[in-house]
Amino acid sequence: MRTAVLGATGLVGREFVALLQNHPWFEVETLVASERSAGRKYGELVEDSPPEFADMELTSLEEFLRNPDVELVFSALPASIAGRVEEKLARRIPVFTNARSHRYEDDVPILVPEVNEKHLALVETQKRNRGWGGFIVANPNCSTAILALSLAPLREFGIRKIRVATMQAVSGAGFSGLSAFAIQDNVIPLIEGEEWKIENESRKIFGEIIDGKIKPAEFGISAIAARVPVLHGHTEAVFVELENPDISEIKKAFERFDPLRAYRLPSYEKPIAYSEVPQPRLHRDRGRGLTVTVGRVENADSGIKYVALGHNLVRGAAGGSILNAELAYALRILH
Ligand SMILES: NC(=O)c1ccc[n+]([C@@H]2O[C@H](COP(=O)([O-])OP(=O)(O)OC[C@H]3O[C@@H](n4cnc5c(N)ncnc54)[C@H](OP(=O)(O)O)[C@@H]3O)[C@@H](O)[C@H]2O)c1
Repeated sequence: MRTAVLGATGLVGREFVALLQNHPWFEVETLVASERSAGRKYGELVEDSPPEFADMELTSLEEFLRNPDVELVFSALPASIAGRVEEKLARRIPVFTNARSHRYEDDVPILVPEVNEKHLALVETQKRNRGWGGFIVANPNCSTAILALSLAPLREFGIRKIRVATMQAVSGAGFSGLSAFAIQDNVIPLIEGEEWKIENESRKIFGEIIDGKIKPAEFGISAIAARVPVLHGHTEAVFVELENPDISEIKKAFERFDPLRAYRLPSYEKPIAYSEVPQPRLHRDRGRGLTVTVGRVENADSGIKYVALGHNLVRGAAGGSILNAELAYALRILH
């Protein structure tokens, strides 16, 4: 399918471009960025550009919107502009986005394919509701994506309550998000809006579709989000109260969790791997960045505690979005 990447020069956009090289289903034809980058070669702005994209000229967003002649859009735009742009495109083209702009709308799924595959059915409701030919599928926020994946095997043990403290990498804030001076030798236990997103997006992801809307899951959830001086990879300390905290069965459930293997999606990797001591430098690139590493799994109070770690730009953003589109393709929702 002829594909465009919006925000291609940003941190998430670069991952999209890297992950989409030689993709068997999606062919990147157009790289879109702001007026600042328009007309320049991708390789001039992105030093480690894959060779096949180095000579591709960047298109400005305004120019792209005049004639968006593609069949699929991946969006890594800032939320400040993504809302109106994605809505305009989705009238005709499927849009897979990382921005938060549409995540909380009733008929827009927040998809983590290994967790809530069934929510993809909402795109038909969305198209009907809005009279669109295309649709919007959102990713969760990066820390939520990692948390949700680690919680999925725990569903069969009856999740009652979740407490999570995150240690999030600086790349989660985008290129211009954080000054080196602020984060060196420091921990900043406040990321504006992040805790609300973790709590509400998790409830939506684990919710059920009833009458064309998602009824959020009813478990209790509370988060504290901190920024730490790590380049890539979010680490999360998670405490889960469970109806049946059988630790040896829980460890087996983490190990066997492999729900989408049968689809043979090109980017699919076993979603969860185990390590005694998960660490960003050692484990963020597991499974091409799509695998979440879980470790330190122990009984605690009326449940368990563990540490989960994942690559924020891949599992938490571009890689997750590509997996979403691959699932839609495999289910013949895209063609
Ligand atoms: N970083 C993460 O871990 C992460 C994880 C999940 C979701 N997200 C979400 O993904 C999106 C992108 O994040 P990021 O971290 O990649 O941001 P970023 O590094 O700041 O990149 C932003 C991209 O958007 C382009 N852009 C900015 N203003 C524009 C405009 N007015 N018109 C057209 N293009 C414009 C930039 O192009 P120029 O280079 O030309 O300025 C750049 O390509 C955001 O919505 C973010 O919340 C990020």
